[in-house]
This record gives sequence, structure tokens and C-alpha cells, in this order.
Amino acid sequence: MSAAPLSPATARAHSNIALIKYWGKRDAALNLPAVGSISITLDALYTDTRVGFHAGIDRDSVDIGGRKVDAAPFTRFLDLIRARAGIEHRARVESWNNFPTGAGLASSASGYAALALAACRAAGLDTNARELSMLARQGSGSAARSIFGGLVEMHRGESASGEDAYAEPLLGPADWPLGVVVAITDRNAKRVNSTAGMTGLAERSDYYDAWVARAPRDLADMRNAIAARDFETVGALTEMSCLKLHGLMLSTRPGLLYWNAATVAAMHAVRELREAGTPVYFTIDAGPQVKAICAPEHTGEVARVVANVPGVLDTRVSGLGPDAHLLD
Ligand code: PMV
Repeated sequence: MSAAPLSPATARAHSNIALIKYWGKRDAALNLPAVGSISITLDALYTDTRVGFHAGIDRDSVDIGGRKVDAAPFTRFLDLIRARAGIEHRARVESWNNFPTGAGLASSASGYAALALAACRAAGLDTNARELSMLARQGSGSAARSIFGGLVEMHRGESASGEDAYAEPLLGPADWPLGVVVAITDRNAKRVNSTAGMTGLAERSDYYDAWVARAPRDLADMRNAIAARDFETVGALTEMSCLKLHGLMLSTRPGLLYWNAATVAAMHAVRELREAGTPVYFTIDAGPQVKAICAPEHTGEVARVVANVPGVLDTRVSGLGPDAHLLD
């Protein structure tokens, strides 16, 4: 990394959804995941973040969607970047999501990926993509994946320092075009965020050890299916990983139930559509929204069907998105 003069920078990073899910931390302080994960980056959902480091201000300020938010969690993250750059300046951060924040649409993934890139550039650091992925991970585990477009694998890593816990691209967005229909069933922020949901999981769930032990095989199966462009196997593994994650969440004391009635109805609608001949598979993160994965030519039909499910408020159609990038 090399130092350069300070001037504000703006970055865009796209949200992602995991096909093979991450849940659980092997180190909470460094935010090291207990399992690897594989995701797709979405072109239709993104965060734009502008960061400027200024000599004349005495504290960080953070606006999301034009509203001032508590800067404390972001100050901890910005401190990592200030330490690397050898600067003390406080930052002005302004961020916009083009989708609802904190409701299971992975705003933390796109948000921390955009913040990592914009803040490194604004601090004069010439950080490479792997270093950005490791930095973004310290804001949110899934953010490590949003540094890259297309299909992405996040490595759990073995090292205590986290130097091998980063994401890497498996395929670029044009290598295997896929479509996603997001069914929004609730616009409110979720009640239990992912960090709270994952804290102390080994003691809180009897299923946790089995979840961690089986993860390498699930990842290998998914890697092989992606390499073979075998959509049916990718889809079947995606639904399996989603249901297994939610089984783990349900098994946690106290039980974590992120679904509402429309979530379940949309899952059934996806399966009925598949039984009727359209290859489509669902996945769901720590929230009530359902994401249906299919070939790009089927997104219109899938969107029409899920939009008619009682309780589905809105749908978004997406293809695969690009790497996080600077806008100025
Ligand atoms: O990155 P976090 O801490 O918001 O956790 C993400 C967890 C899931 O979205 C449920 C799964 C995943 O791999 O993205």
C-alpha cells in the first residue's frame, strides 16, 4: 500500500446473496467466519458511498439515505483504515442504498464493501481487491464477497490473524448469466441482526457443530456444480443450504424465526412453479424476503408468479453485478 494526497472518493458496491450460507464466527473480534460461503453479486441492488477525510472536523459523521446515524460502529471501521494510512483525520461519510436498509437485502454487504473502497481511496491507500475484501469482512462477513462481481467464494481461512479469510471470484458476471427475483414481504428493518443472531451460537444451538462440520462438503459440491454450469444442482444445493441455515436459526436458544406468512407462501410458489417445469429455486437470508434464482429468460414469469403471492409487497429483478468500483 502506498500513500497519496487526501481527496474525497465515491464508490459503488453491489449487494450479494449467498447460495451456500455463512452463519457463525470463529473469531468475533476479527469477524472471522466459522464456515466459508458462495454468493452471487446482484446488479439491481447497490450502495453508493462518499468518504472524505478532513483536518478541520473533530468526529466522524455518517449519513445513510440523507439521515444522520450513530457513527460509533463506523468509527471503529474507519480507525482500521486511518491506522493503515497513518492519518488522524475524521471522516464525513454519506451513503445511499437503492433498496430498503437492514431488511434482509444485504445492505451491510454492499454498504461495508462500498465504504471500504471509498475510505481506502480517500485515505490515499492503494489497496488491492483481496485486502479490500479482508477489510470489508471486518465490517460485515458478507461484505467481503461484495468486493467482487459474478459468483464469489468467501474462504473461512485457518489463520488466527485472518490473513486467509477473504473472498475470491469464481466466475465473472458474463461467464454464466443468472437471474434473481427478490420478493419483498416486509419493508421494516429486521428485529434480530445477524451479529446478535450469531453470538454464542456454539452454546445456543445443538445443531451448530454439525453445521460447521458439513460446510466444506457443501462448498465443494457447489464449486463443482458451478464449474459444470449445472443449474439444477446449483439450485438444489442453494435451497438445501437456505433450509439448513434456517433450521439452525430455529434451533438457537431463543429460536430465531425470520419468516412471515408471505415468506412461506412464496417458498411454496417457487416450488410449485418448479414442479410445473420452470427451473427456479429459492433462498432466504436473515430476514423475511425471498430470492428466487433462475435463468435470466425466466425472471419475467417468476416475477409475475411471486408478485401474486398474498403478502408479497414488491418484487425486484436482478442479474449478476460487477466488482465494487470507484465512481469518481
Ligand atoms: O454479513 P452478515 O453479518 O450480515 O451475515 C450474513 C448472514 C447471511 O446473510 C444470513 C448469510 C450469508 O452468507 O450472507
